[in-house]
Amino acid sequence: MNIKRAYTPPAKLYLGSAYYPEQWPEAGWKEDIRQMQVAGFNVARMGDFAWSRLEPAPGQFNFDWLDRAIAMLAEAGIDSVLATPTAGPPAWLVTQHPDMLPVDKDGRRAQFGNRCHYCVTSPEFHAAVRRLVEALAQRFGPNPHVLGWQLDNEYNRTCYCPRCQHQFQQYLAQRYGALDELNRRWATTYWSQTYDAWEQIPLPVGPHNPGLMLEHKRFITESYRRFQRLQIDALRLHLLPETWITHNFMFWHDGYDHYDLSEDLELASWDWYVGMGQHDYRSSGAAHDLVRGYKRQNFWLMETQPGNVNWKPLNNAIDKGGTRLMAWHAVGHGADAVLYWQWRSPLGGQEQYHGTLLDTTGQPRPFFAEAQQVGRDFAAASRLLAGARPVAETAILHCPASRWSIGWQPHHQDFDYLEHLLHYYKPLAAANIPLDILSADSLLDGYRMVIAPALLILTPGRAAALKAFVANGGHLLLTLRSGMKDEFNALLPLRQPGALAELTGAEVEEYYALENPVPVLGEGWQGASRLWAERLKLLDPATQVLARYGASNGWLDGCPAITQHAFGKGRVTFVGAYLDEASQAALLQRLLAEAGVQPVLVTPEGVEACRRVGEDGEEILILINYTHQEQRIGLPWRAYEHLRGQAIQGELRIAPLDVALLSHA
Ligand code: GLA
Ligand code: ZN
Repeated sequence: MNIKRAYTPPAKLYLGSAYYPEQWPEAGWKEDIRQMQVAGFNVARMGDFAWSRLEPAPGQFNFDWLDRAIAMLAEAGIDSVLATPTAGPPAWLVTQHPDMLPVDKDGRRAQFGNRCHYCVTSPEFHAAVRRLVEALAQRFGPNPHVLGWQLDNEYNRTCYCPRCQHQFQQYLAQRYGALDELNRRWATTYWSQTYDAWEQIPLPVGPHNPGLMLEHKRFITESYRRFQRLQIDALRLHLLPETWITHNFMFWHDGYDHYDLSEDLELASWDWYVGMGQHDYRSSGAAHDLVRGYKRQNFWLMETQPGNVNWKPLNNAIDKGGTRLMAWHAVGHGADAVLYWQWRSPLGGQEQYHGTLLDTTGQPRPFFAEAQQVGRDFAAASRLLAGARPVAETAILHCPASRWSIGWQPHHQDFDYLEHLLHYYKPLAAANIPLDILSADSLLDGYRMVIAPALLILTPGRAAALKAFVANGGHLLLTLRSGMKDEFNALLPLRQPGALAELTGAEVEEYYALENPVPVLGEGWQGASRLWAERLKLLDPATQVLARYGASNGWLDGCPAITQHAFGKGRVTFVGAYLDEASQAALLQRLLAEAGVQPVLVTPEGVEACRRVGEDGEEILILINYTHQEQRIGLPWRAYEHLRGQAIQGELRIAPLDVALLSHA
């Protein structure tokens, strides 16, 4: 069973934190909840890691305390999100089924007590999860104060036990049908890898056959997806129609395919930790846009840091004022909720030193005041922003398989798929261009410009979608390492960019990992390419050369580095170079102008302008001043500023580290 319902955007913004009432005497909950009201919180997430309190012995459920906590919170106007506690299996379960502990690459079984200590394919674990989640669903599913459910917590382990290996082999048998087909796709005659029985196929514990490596990632995805479906099936029947199900994903975690896992969820959410240092909005916005792209709708920020974390070599606090800007940045990029992790410092456990709202005594920490300010902000902004979402004319395509493939064989130790993607994202973000980050398998209707960074893996479906996009008038930007491999991680018997050569009117004659940057000479600019350079060859006399390589390794000298080609009603720019920042910004400015893409607003450096658009088309601007100076911004229309409650005509002044929320007056 898999009844999926759409996520209905809430009628307000949510602010709150993770709350672990089970760690504290019940007599103190009232005071906790009073303090939450003082902070302006309206949501609490509970239950993750509460398995041993919810089911102290096999089949013996103890849910009353959670019922009371939900009711006390509700009475104070605070809704609940429940997390299934499956990332913390209790000791009795592990004692019963030691085989449920995951095995690492070196064959060692995990120890009990460090969470996520489960093999995701263990049938005994599955049975225990089903029993508990079903019982939780029966009890709390009909509760109108439970807004939604988070499944597990940050899926992250990969298990190498014999059962996982066996299931991997079964997965392959189903996918390939016949071993001959697998042998052909993986080119196993190479190094005499030919398989004549499914049982011979290993789990890759280090570098291995590229086809096998990619299928292993797909198998991990599939294993988590089955585990996730098991929980969804246990929950669904008992939930109210508007109750959603989500999972809290981690940053740019690359352990599995997030798009596949998101298909079975109504809502995407994630956990944003800056960790060490301070956040840079030009790159952190990409992680929000990524998560918004999982479901192509608004998301929840299920966890974020109240001050500092505890798991970095240096756990500095975010500078004063910074987390308020982080909350607004998240909202600007489509968050409908912001939840801190966590409420109060636990006396024990591995996370004793993590930032919280209350200290061990139950008194507010200095950070509390900042959360309170966000609470006041959200109260003022809530109604305006409800149902509104970011809208972009430019999409950046993201392909987990290309990222894995390049990561396994980077060919240049410093080449990183993500850094390359951000090389395109950052200058656009700095210019306040709204961006969607989408799966490379998405429909591309409605965009003016699509950027496909290092789209290494090119399936016929992707080629067809890109062709239709350009034919209908879209501007496509293809970069280096494009169109080189098929979905089995095998090289194509075609020059790059494979089937897209028709669109680019150019192909790659050769690619070079670079020892030193090589000069790149454009029209009116001189720059350089670092790490990588592709020597382009024109296939169509109508293809225009936008830049050429200067003298370098001899092979590249004078050859085209960037080309442009008209196709149908659209245009394709093919970038073979990894440009320096100034040249990259100049190139992107030109392409934006050609595609007719407009920024939200032109702002001084260090001021971000985000836009959400209401269902009625109302435009809402969120301006965030990350600088330590007052900034002045010319407004194109008469506006109303909602956080201060003022009409503004002409020039807006934003104080250092402050935010403005504008709509048309
Ligand atoms: C993760 C987890 C939380 C907590 C925080 C600490 O995001 O989901 O349970 O451990 O990290 O930063
Ligand atoms: Zn396993």
